[in-house]
Amino acid sequence: MENILVTGATGNVGRQVVSQLLATDVRVRVMARSPESAGLPRQVEVVRGDLTVPTALDRCLDGVDAVFLVWCAPATAVAPGVAQIVKHARRIVFLSNLTVRDGIEEQAYPVTTLHAKIERLIEVSGVRWTFLRPGAFASNARIWWAPQVRAGDVVRWPYPGAVTSPIHERDIAAVAVRALCEDGHAGAKYILTGPQSLTHRDQVRTIGDAIGRPLRFEEIPPEAARREMATIMPASIADMLLDAWQNVEYAGSATVGKPAPVTPTVAEITGVPARSFRDWAVDHAVEFQQ
Ligand SMILES: NC(=O)c1ccc[n+]([C@@H]2O[C@H](COP(=O)([O-])OP(=O)(O)OC[C@H]3O[C@@H](n4cnc5c(N)ncnc54)[C@H](OP(=O)(O)O)[C@@H]3O)[C@@H](O)[C@H]2O)c1
Repeated sequence: MENILVTGATGNVGRQVVSQLLATDVRVRVMARSPESAGLPRQVEVVRGDLTVPTALDRCLDGVDAVFLVWCAPATAVAPGVAQIVKHARRIVFLSNLTVRDGIEEQAYPVTTLHAKIERLIEVSGVRWTFLRPGAFASNARIWWAPQVRAGDVVRWPYPGAVTSPIHERDIAAVAVRALCEDGHAGAKYILTGPQSLTHRDQVRTIGDAIGRPLRFEEIPPEAARREMATIMPASIADMLLDAWQNVEYAGSATVGKPAPVTPTVAEITGVPARSFRDWAVDHAVEFQQ
């Protein structure tokens, strides 16, 4: 029986990876910084660990065959952390992102640079790897808008017409589980999206439908948005998002007015079509309710 270590298991995708792995015949171990509050199923072995403390990773990695790697730790910890992981694991499935470009030194954003660096370290290590490169998570809507929707019927946000193809965390996890448990995914870089390009305004409307309460989108200028966004996410992520949305909506770039890309990869790998943003909003409706 394979032993699989899941990192980021208290997060959006990792929690789903754990729950879907439990339906297979592998043994699941989880690295958690605070095992006592991780809230994971009893069947899972929870081991205390932190990606920024490479010497303490051994007890998480001991006897592990494969690792699902989510990197939310600082960039300074990447090299020692990845070096420790590749010493133990034969297979790594890494949660990267869609903005990583192959074959270039200068990536567009700090998080892209971070993910490209991790990909490179894994690639040269000799382990079997699969990189998941999802676009925007549907679950961003919870972080961005749930507090406003719980408080009222108005969502104040910039760039109503900016488009993404939001992907349900369950679909990212379903691809991850295939890549962790099956042969045939080594060396693959999977670009993952949801099934439909939607504007911010569309997404807010869909959440309103799911909770049975019409929501109004009120556009705010980017400078005001940046201040508010910096209270719920790192400033570098707020800057990245604002830059991306501006390019899509206003900047006269080739992408203006075009839908966001949609890939068939989720269905190709799992045999099941990617879930819609409406599915996601229904699954998470309670988190938006007053
Ligand atoms: N949001 C998007 O649209 C999007 C799109 C593409 C890619 N991504 C990438 O997806 C990843 C985030 O995935 P997610 O949303 O599933 O995660 P998340 O919900 O943000 O949760 C972060 C996870 O990382 C763990 N973690 C944080 N610091 C750690 C450390 N020092 N050592 C060990 N574990 C640590 C947290 O564990 P604790 O319980 O210990 O805090 C938690 O389980 C990021 O790399 C992001 O760039 C996001």
